[in-house]
Amino acid sequence: MLSTELIQQFKTIVNEKYVFADEETLQIYSHDETEKLSYLPSVVLKPRTAEEISAILKLCNEHKIPVTPRGAGTGLSGGALPDLGGVVLSTERMNQIIEIDERNLQVITEPGVITEELQNAVKEKNLFYPPDPQSKGSCFIGGNIAENSGGPKAVKYGTVKDYVLNLEVVLPTGEIIWTGVNVIKNATGYNLTQLIVGSEGTLGIVTKIVLRLIPLPKYDLLMLVPFRSVEKAGEAVSAIFRAGFTPSALELVEINALKITSDYVENKSIPVHDGIAAHLIIETDGNNQDVLMQEMEAIATLLEGYDTEEIFFAEDAQQKEELWKLRRKTAEAVKLKGYTIEEDTVVPRAELPALINGVKALGIQHNFDVVCYGHAGDGNLHIRIHKEGVPNSYGNAEMTSILAELFKLVKTLRGTISAEHGIGLIQKTYMPIMFNDMQLNLMRGIKKVFDPNNILNAGKVFDMA
Ligand code: LAC
Ligand code: ZN
Repeated sequence: MLSTELIQQFKTIVNEKYVFADEETLQIYSHDETEKLSYLPSVVLKPRTAEEISAILKLCNEHKIPVTPRGAGTGLSGGALPDLGGVVLSTERMNQIIEIDERNLQVITEPGVITEELQNAVKEKNLFYPPDPQSKGSCFIGGNIAENSGGPKAVKYGTVKDYVLNLEVVLPTGEIIWTGVNVIKNATGYNLTQLIVGSEGTLGIVTKIVLRLIPLPKYDLLMLVPFRSVEKAGEAVSAIFRAGFTPSALELVEINALKITSDYVENKSIPVHDGIAAHLIIETDGNNQDVLMQEMEAIATLLEGYDTEEIFFAEDAQQKEELWKLRRKTAEAVKLKGYTIEEDTVVPRAELPALINGVKALGIQHNFDVVCYGHAGDGNLHIRIHKEGVPNSYGNAEMTSILAELFKLVKTLRGTISAEHGIGLIQKTYMPIMFNDMQLNLMRGIKKVFDPNNILNAGKVFDMA
């Protein structure tokens, strides 16, 4: 609990309208989209400016009050869970796009802008900001930077890190800094910008963002390819790249996930044949429609050697949107069906079949149901697990040991624990699988330089000792 005096000081900083300590608000901010976890904060603050955030952090630093930064609360690793109580600092009022710089193909924005709204705003100027997490309709660009998000387009266009040029950041001790300058080449000193990207709100709170944009591709084509075996679908993925193609999306959805999602979104227009184990969703984009069509046909011909069924081509914008909706809603749909535990493994893409087989074998051995889907072109497989009576992985000894086995397999395959969701609260237990003490101590040292009193998202990503 925070003293009434401190609450009063917060009210002086942000105006009492934006200081919330009522039960209903605290409940809303007690969880994000991570499993079924929930922790009540003491207070929720909704500042409008970097200066207000600076004053809040100075006060919290002085009194050693835990602060959990929060964007839209769509995170899947628990980065926004206030498990230590204290302050939740929401960036939702910092929601302005400051400038679209068409001369330099850049955008300057505040962190509380919804990613899709930013994409639509730059699209009106024929510009493209590609990173497209599935939650793009509700997540904030600030949260995407905190987690270094990806999404389907990452396979061709890269993740958030590839677009961030410069950041205004409020440090845990209250200073306001810029991490760099607004240029696309920069060999001037340590790269503080990229240190902040993916630091999951542990090093500072991002208050302004400069992003690089690219010209908007004019056309895209989309197809759904059914496979009789998941393993074959996995093998086909690396074959596509080896044959010289770079799709703008290459997603895999196992049949159980597709069926659950099509029930959930009440979409029966996508044909599902008997005997199908998985689908690949393949998109190409560019400026010449004939070239794209030839590319799609060549990919389709290549895939005939991988035990496929009849391919479904999306014919118009509506069919494309329906197909993408099925993929976008997969996580939400399977979570509601009881698959609460989601992993975000990534391996070099040719190891995808080994990862799929490995996780299936673990499921049989430890008696859990599993559905796999994700960004197969990146080797990034989301694995959703349902084990009777186990709603959360965090704090559950049995699930922790199963997941440790899974991540050891991932490491053997030369992959890692998270590709785009971050480590947050629930995956930090497994960091020693990926990093030794020397590596973890380097990260701890960096944290200490930024946050000597360990107030900002403390205990996320790794523990200090
Ligand atoms: C997905 C999100 C959950 O790809 O990352 O479905
Ligand atoms: Zn994903």
